[in-house]
Amino acid sequence: VLSYRHAYHAGNHADVLKHVVLVALLEHYAEKAKPLCYIDTHAGAGVYALDSPAALMHREFESGIGLLWRRSDLPESVRKYVGLVSALNPDAALHRYPGSASLARAVLPPTDKLWLCEMHPTDHAELAQQVAGAGIEVLREDGFARLRALLPPKPRRALVLIDPSYELKSEYDAVLAAVADAVRRFATGTYAIWYPMLSKREPQLLLQRLRELKVPRWLHAALQVRAQGVGDPGLHGSGMYVINPPYTLPAALGEALPYLLERLGQDRQARYTLEYEMP
Ligand SMILES: C[S@@+](CC[C@H](N)C(=O)[O-])C[C@H]1O[C@@H](n2cnc3c(N)ncnc32)[C@H](O)[C@@H]1O
Repeated sequence: VLSYRHAYHAGNHADVLKHVVLVALLEHYAEKAKPLCYIDTHAGAGVYALDSPAALMHREFESGIGLLWRRSDLPESVRKYVGLVSALNPDAALHRYPGSASLARAVLPPTDKLWLCEMHPTDHAELAQQVAGAGIEVLREDGFARLRALLPPKPRRALVLIDPSYELKSEYDAVLAAVADAVRRFATGTYAIWYPMLSKREPQLLLQRLRELKVPRWLHAALQVRAQGVGDPGLHGSGMYVINPPYTLPAALGEALPYLLERLGQDRQARYTLEYEMP
């Protein structure tokens, strides 16, 4: 039984980090003329109403996109992401927030193929309604199983977002197994894996095990917004581990991360990480 609903968290600091990285990746691939296969293993609802009871429960978006979207001093890679949020909010108030699938649909040309998996019945129905169109498959299926079935993909260029809720401890192992299998099946794909910073060890262990896959090209970007509190159940930050990042990503994030730290950092423990090996 799935109880996680992304609507409670849409637009928070973790979505900001994830979606700034995702938009930078999407923009890179959209500039090439060659067709791309975008696979979102955990796609969510597509669009989130920020004036819904769920979003207003903890108002997480206020310390995320809420701190960015009216600013005029955004670095380019953040501006592109904020521009996509603004496009959904034409009346100058922040009512709606685009999930990963909407961002992909907005940036990628209609000739690309989008595979969007979402298991929750309500979120799946919303996703199918919000993000429809030619070349878009919205599936109520396990994203890990679909990823396995799709690789190697046609066309033979792929960007994969793996963004589970980590509601179950077993999801950390499932992510690692899925990534290890994916790079065996299709070594040249770009895989972006989101992970939470929580006061428990599973996320750090996942990051360590992702590193131990020893893929030759990788990038790790993380944003910690506050000190890790003892027994604190909330997210004090998050990160993205990207396998086969495009050569444009370090510069885009080198500009974005210091800015995000300044805007979204909440205390003196706030910090960002940007490390990569791209031989
Ligand atoms: C963190 S949310 C996704 C947010 C979305 N990627 C975004 O960036 O806007 C994770 C989603 O995965 C869904 N989910 C959980 N297990 C799944 C599975 N095995 N396959 C596909 N979706 C799953 C949940 O219902 C939830 O909507």
